[in-house]
Amino acid sequence: MSDISYLGADRAPSPGSGLSFGVDVGGSGVKGAIVDLRSGEFVGDRHRVQTPQPATPAAIAEAVRSIVEHFGWTGPVGITVPGVVKDGVMRSAANIDPSWIGTDLAQLFSTALGGRRVTVLNDADAAGLAELTYGGGAHLADGEVVLLTLGTGIGSALLHNGTLIPNTEFGHIEVNGKIAEKRASAKVRKDRGWSFDRWAKELSAVLVMYERLFSPDLFIVGGGISRKADKWVPLLTNEVPVVPARLRNTAGIVGAALAVTNDI
Ligand code: BGC
Repeated sequence: MSDISYLGADRAPSPGSGLSFGVDVGGSGVKGAIVDLRSGEFVGDRHRVQTPQPATPAAIAEAVRSIVEHFGWTGPVGITVPGVVKDGVMRSAANIDPSWIGTDLAQLFSTALGGRRVTVLNDADAAGLAELTYGGGAHLADGEVVLLTLGTGIGSALLHNGTLIPNTEFGHIEVNGKIAEKRASAKVRKDRGWSFDRWAKELSAVLVMYERLFSPDLFIVGGGISRKADKWVPLLTNEVPVVPARLRNTAGIVGAALAVTNDI
């Protein structure tokens, strides 16, 4: 497995022509689907299983195996994980079992999948690749775009002139004394029972901090909550425009399927 950390413009992902397979490992569900790389759309339905608890590497590898087997898929598999992936090794585990840290991801998943080729990357980076390729916006090719996935945590993908800078982890930046994802993830809103109005105040503070630090031209927001973006994006008070991800919450699976085909 190669690393995506040197992905440059000359290696930017291309849509591809055939079918591929992606799996998105999340805090509550592990989801997979066959992806048509021409359109970036699923072929048939996705299949989801509950994230096993504790979410150890062995338990997740078994969940991934069962999803791949459900489809009878025998080719290479792209897989996202909710943590830093450096040289194929998991380096952080904020919202998943701590035993992931130091895990050789290619070895883990390839072994579970009968020795086949796998590519493993951060979940938000996968979403960034998918939006770059299928988001359909020329606006993504120029300037700085910060894509955020708002779910259990806050994932980030930094797109610089159409190139992904991986493992940015903006969700762990401290904003007014609290890390961003503990302040404004979708889970925080749900746990506190906040209205969109109340939550938008927290998210705005986070976005203002990102504006100061990174001077983005655009924010793209993804994750399940982006399906209701019309209810809360207008309430944000930061300066830089915020648009919902085109792929909504299919982006992780699609990006994983893309990454394994482009071998990035
Ligand atoms: C992790 C990121 C991940 C994000 C979304 C954060 O807690 O540190 O790596 O992208 O959650 O799952």
